[in-house]
Parts: sequence; C-alpha cells; structure tokens
Amino acid sequence: MATTQLLSTVEHREKLPEGYERPESDRPRLAEVVTDSNIPVIDLASPDKPRVVAEIARACRTYGFFQVTNHGISEELLEKVMAVALEFFRLPPEEKEKLYSDEPSKKIRLSTSFNVRKETVHNWRDYLRLHCHPLEEFVPEWPSNPAQFKEIMSTYCRQVRQLGFRLLGAISLSLGLEEDYIEKVLGEQEQHMAVNYYPRCPEPDLTYGLPKHTDPNALTILLPDPNVAGLQVLRDGGQWIAVDPRPNALTVNLGDQIQALSNGAYKSVWHRAVVNASQERMSVASFLCPCNSAVISPARELVADGDEPVYQSYTYDAYYKKFWSRNLDQEHCLELFR
Ligand code: SIN
Ligand code: FE2
Repeated sequence: MATTQLLSTVEHREKLPEGYERPESDRPRLAEVVTDSNIPVIDLASPDKPRVVAEIARACRTYGFFQVTNHGISEELLEKVMAVALEFFRLPPEEKEKLYSDEPSKKIRLSTSFNVRKETVHNWRDYLRLHCHPLEEFVPEWPSNPAQFKEIMSTYCRQVRQLGFRLLGAISLSLGLEEDYIEKVLGEQEQHMAVNYYPRCPEPDLTYGLPKHTDPNALTILLPDPNVAGLQVLRDGGQWIAVDPRPNALTVNLGDQIQALSNGAYKSVWHRAVVNASQERMSVASFLCPCNSAVISPARELVADGDEPVYQSYTYDAYYKKFWSRNLDQEHCLELFR
C-alpha cells in the first residue's frame, strides 16, 4: 500500500485517492439516512434532578446517545476550542508532519484514518490524539503551535472531565445504583482526546470519516462541529440516524464499559462519521476511560436473582488490547466477553 499521508496537507482533490474506496457492500448510502430530532436533548441545569435522571435513563436505554445543554462549559470556551483546533489543522504541512505518527500506542500523535498499519481501506479523517490525564504530565508535550493551543485545550479538558464525572454520577443513579458506583469501579480514570478533522471529500458516497464502531471506553463527550452534521447513530432496526447538532450542546455517548457494567441494560451503540463534498467538518471527542487495572463486571444489583451476568468480568487492560487487535467495524467487541 502506498504510504498514507495526512489528508489535510492537500488543498483540493477532484477524485478519491486510491485506498479510500469502500466495497459496494460497505458504503454509507447517504440517501437512506434520516435526521431524527428525537435524539434526546437534556437540560442539565434543570432544577428537577429526578427528571434529569429519568431522561438520562430513557436516553441510555433507547439510544445510547444524547445531547446535553446548560452543561456548564461556556459557549466562549467551546468556540475557542473549535477555532484553535481548526487553526492547528491549517498549519503548513511541514509543521504538522513533525507530529505525524501511525503508532497507536503513542500518547501524543497526529495521524490519519484510524489504524493505518492494520486497515485495508482508509478513512477520510486526520486526527490529533492526545492523552490528557494527568494534564501536568502530558500538556508540555502537546503542540505549542498554535500558541494558544495548550491553554485552551487544557482548560477544556479539565471542564469536560468534571462534566463527565457529573454524568457518570447521574448514569449510576439512573441505574438505581449509588451515585459514585461507576466512578469507584473505573478507578483513577484516564482521559484521551481526539481532535478530528474531516476535509471536504470529492466522493463522500464511497468512503467514511469513521466507519461504524462502538467506543471501547466508558463515556465519550463530543464537541461537534456546530455547522456541519456528520455523526450518525444506528437504531435497533438497522436505520442510520443523522444527529443534528444543537447550538452549544455536547453530544454524549456510552462506551462499551457502561454497557458491561449495566449488564446490557444500557447500550454502547454503533455510530459512524460521514463526510461531504462541500464542507470540511471538525469534532473534538473526549474519552473517559477506566484505569487499566479496573475490573469491569455487571453490577450485581442489575443481575436478576437466579440469572447469570450477561458479561464476564475482565480488566480494562485486557478489553482494550482485544479491541485494538480487531478491525474497527467487526462484531461488537463485548460479544467476545459474554
Ligand atoms: C467518533 O468519535 O465516533 C466520531 C465523532 C464525530 O466526528 O462525530
Ligand atoms: Fe466513536
């Protein structure tokens, strides 16, 4: 295979380059996707806490996805994050190439596609992958160009982490567990960030920004591009639904670890990112992850008397290794832990 290069170093393309075209049986079929305005939007500032918890329960059972508004992170900061991320991807190629790596275990790297060493077809995405916890350890290694990058992104990381903990508390309550149940199980959580850049694509029907996958971590909080949709979620019946980003909302989705802890009551759903011919798109995904040694198993309270838990007990380290040993769009990784 030809050496894969960053997509964002080329200004304009007339045709999809070699290596990005999906086989006929695995294309996004964009014309069949529907936009669903029912994906729950939950107002976190609502004084009616039991209602917020009930809305989270419903969203987690039916969609595995929801948007949150009044989440406590200012509009101004969200705008700064998007602006500095875009500025980063606009840097000259030689500046970006210094950070390029296709080694997935590297804790700070600019890369493209998903796992260029293993995959047979590439994805229409460049991304900057950053480990974020503890911040003091990693921030010195983050890009120092643009000059504001470290400050804006580290402020955002701190706030998104707090929001994540609040949400995990509400998710615990919504399962009928103690508020700190999930946090205790996950231990000292790791935090990663993927700053995604999807350039305009000459043939968006033939390729993906990210093909269908579930997230291996516990909770993902996505800052979506406010102007360009691209995230799609699979409903039970096999219908792809486009998520319509609400102004200043953050999109939350459950990862595989919450599905396991909930004994399958809550879903880590398949989702994907598609691209388009007229506009570039960005997103900033923040991942809260159990510590490596965390032992994940279905909460005993959620396994009915006399039943066996749906999933085995495993360490997050074992799960993560298994997840990365596969292709992104193979069967749900949790199926291997039944
Ligand atoms: C993802 O991280 O799953 C895709 C996020 C997006 O770009 O919408
Ligand atoms: Fe994802």
